[in-house]
Amino acid sequence: MWTQQQLDQYQRDGYLIQRGIITPDEVAAMLEASHELMSGRPTPSDVHTVHETSGAIRTVFCVHRQVDVFRAACRSEKIAGPVKQVFGQDGYIFHSKINVKESFEGTVWLWHQDYGYWGYDGVDERMMSAMVMLDKTTLHNGCIMMLSGSHKWGALDHLDDEKSTSYKQWCITPEALRAHLTDESMIVPITGEPGDVCFFDCNLVHGSGHNMSPQPRKTMIYAYATVDNIPRGVEAPRPDWVVSREYEPVTADIQLGPAAA
Ligand code: SIN
Ligand code: MN
Repeated sequence: MWTQQQLDQYQRDGYLIQRGIITPDEVAAMLEASHELMSGRPTPSDVHTVHETSGAIRTVFCVHRQVDVFRAACRSEKIAGPVKQVFGQDGYIFHSKINVKESFEGTVWLWHQDYGYWGYDGVDERMMSAMVMLDKTTLHNGCIMMLSGSHKWGALDHLDDEKSTSYKQWCITPEALRAHLTDESMIVPITGEPGDVCFFDCNLVHGSGHNMSPQPRKTMIYAYATVDNIPRGVEAPRPDWVVSREYEPVTADIQLGPAAA
């Protein structure tokens, strides 16, 4: 459970890092499961893999249902507890993904707000993510970068980028970036060790660079929505592997602490 101070920090900055809350044994089990999913052997039916233009694996989506270790982690007190505190109610998994960012081949995630796209999926802004570092995460292997406090900037203009990477990305326009990201000191690199977890708001501006290092940078990201926040009114919904149609609460067993918002 977070203290009131941690909750205040999360609300102020739009993110909060908790170091080492996933144990080395738990990280080892997650890495083993990741390697199995990436091995080319058959995966559970709802898992969906996206490759880089180079052929390397970029992302493995929807691992929170049928892969035991990832299913357990998103329901654990350590991860789902703070989510429930922030929400003040139960959450469900909107989607999950392992961002692999292989050595030398893992490419950028341009600056974006997650809700910049999720809004079009028919959900409201009561959403957040928990990112578990599975490998050591450095400036060289493409750590995620945050703009602290940017979740309070409102919805920035986004555009479809289909050229920079293999994965069509909804990213902030250069004009909007120039207007808001006015000094490099605003960029906070989130480096860390396996087992560190970064929680962040769906409107926080974030992105990451190419992996220039010989080390991969695997992270597990769970995106949560409040349990009543299900996609509505979308004519052409995205597939279930990226916008889940399963709304089972994953935080129901976790008690709300006194610091709940
Ligand atoms: C994301 O924004 O979804 C991914 C960012 C990253 O893995 O660096
Ligand atoms: Mn994102």
